[in-house]
Amino acid sequence: MSDESGPMRIGVLISGSGTNLQAIIDAIAEGRLDAEVAVVISNLEDAYGLERARKAGIPAVHVDRTAYTTFAAYNAAIRDTLLDHEVDVVAMAGYMRLLGVEVLDAFPGRVLNIHPALLPAFPGPSGIRDAFEHGVKVTGVTVHFANENFDEGPIIAQAAVEVAEGDTVEALEAKIHAVEHELYPRVLQWIAEGRVTVEGRIARIAEHG
Ligand code: GRF
Repeated sequence: MSDESGPMRIGVLISGSGTNLQAIIDAIAEGRLDAEVAVVISNLEDAYGLERARKAGIPAVHVDRTAYTTFAAYNAAIRDTLLDHEVDVVAMAGYMRLLGVEVLDAFPGRVLNIHPALLPAFPGPSGIRDAFEHGVKVTGVTVHFANENFDEGPIIAQAAVEVAEGDTVEALEAKIHAVEHELYPRVLQWIAEGRVTVEGRIARIAEHG
């Protein structure tokens, strides 16, 4: 994915605290992810992830949905911000809105999302709680390519998390977030290495070398 112009440039879309963003920033700093975060975009001005970006010296941009009359115009503004920062790959990390075709078409096969459940089980904004309340014994984390629907698209990687007897939903959340913070940078590194391809709805990961 990276070329002669340097490491893969990631645009991160957030709406909230940005702990996954932080995990990506830390993985880059520690040499586990050969990439650069080119820009962080939030639809919410007070998302703490914007502050994390600023602290790391990364451009932090608020794109306000209410400033645009249409969903298409709002998504075109996100696309233009990503293009302005020469982004190669878009990583949604707690971005709580649908992504428009304006962005998806500008980055074909290069938009990822992380979801805190084993898709296709428990999509939606409360995947951890929904799985917990369903009484599942195993849930987990999914990283997938995004499409125009929530939590859909070829699955790149999943990691299982056990629901132990006596776990509270808070305890389960903590376990899932810890797994997310390890999995997302790892998958982004596979992308940087050009190891991920898609055939139909199946994403394939090539072996090293
Ligand atoms: C994560 O659990 C992610 O899977 C989901 O939203 C949450 C974002 O958390 N899509 P954070 O903002 O990265 O802390």
